[in-house]
Amino acid sequence: MTFTTLNYLALTHDSSLTGILKQYSTAISPRILDLGCGVGTHTLSLANVFTNAELLGIDISSSNITAALKTVADNRQYNIKFVETDYLTLNDSGFDIIHAESVLHLITADDADLYQKISNDLNKNGILAVTMPYDCIYNRLLITARQLLKILRNPLLDKCILKIASWLHPEIDIAVLRDRIPYMYIIPQRLYSKRLQNLFDKKYNLKVIYSEKCQHASLAKPRHKIILFQKN
Ligand SMILES: C[S@@+](CC[C@H](N)C(=O)[O-])C[C@H]1O[C@@H](n2cnc3c(N)ncnc32)[C@H](O)[C@@H]1O
Repeated sequence: MTFTTLNYLALTHDSSLTGILKQYSTAISPRILDLGCGVGTHTLSLANVFTNAELLGIDISSSNITAALKTVADNRQYNIKFVETDYLTLNDSGFDIIHAESVLHLITADDADLYQKISNDLNKNGILAVTMPYDCIYNRLLITARQLLKILRNPLLDKCILKIASWLHPEIDIAVLRDRIPYMYIIPQRLYSKRLQNLFDKKYNLKVIYSEKCQHASLAKPRHKIILFQKN
């Protein structure tokens, strides 16, 4: 499964992550990385909240970067750049904040490489702000269901999924739901757990300073947590 050709147009939930982050960040003109920025919705929210920030939004999908440029087009007062790249090959660091909304579990990479890079890319006292699925029965069952769907995938199954999605979410445009179908087959690469928390703390110098369960956005989505880590 590759994200390079996927859009992320739907179900960008209105997370409270940016507001919580504002309460915890003390940097006056922070350098912020919006990792896996999608269509730039949260990048713009970050710019609205951190008005003096230098923002870099990156995404592996070129169509998302094109859409993100449009999202911020009318906001030239902000210092925002977008780059199409895989985070693992991003050659930039010294960030005060790395913001990753529903992204870390999707990055195909060796865990140690990913965590070490995040830790290296953050300044001292910098904050990693994420939402990601956590280890719980609901998410384990959902992952099992997706593994099964992946084996059975065919055009008819895609049609059934679209039908069910349109019943569950009549408020969302059908084209947007269609864009979401590939996400139904995505298996998270990692879940947030006590083990991951300990690893971040002991090995990568990232201490949890805030953690809260998110409101569940949709039955088809894994349950997420907001977690803020600070680099020692
Ligand atoms: C679930 S979407 C979230 C998008 C955005 N953060 C939001 O909340 O609206 C995950 C995003 O991560 C991007 N992504 C996945 N793997 C990536 C990688 N290795 N490097 C950069 N972006 C990646 C995908 O293209 C996608 O836009």
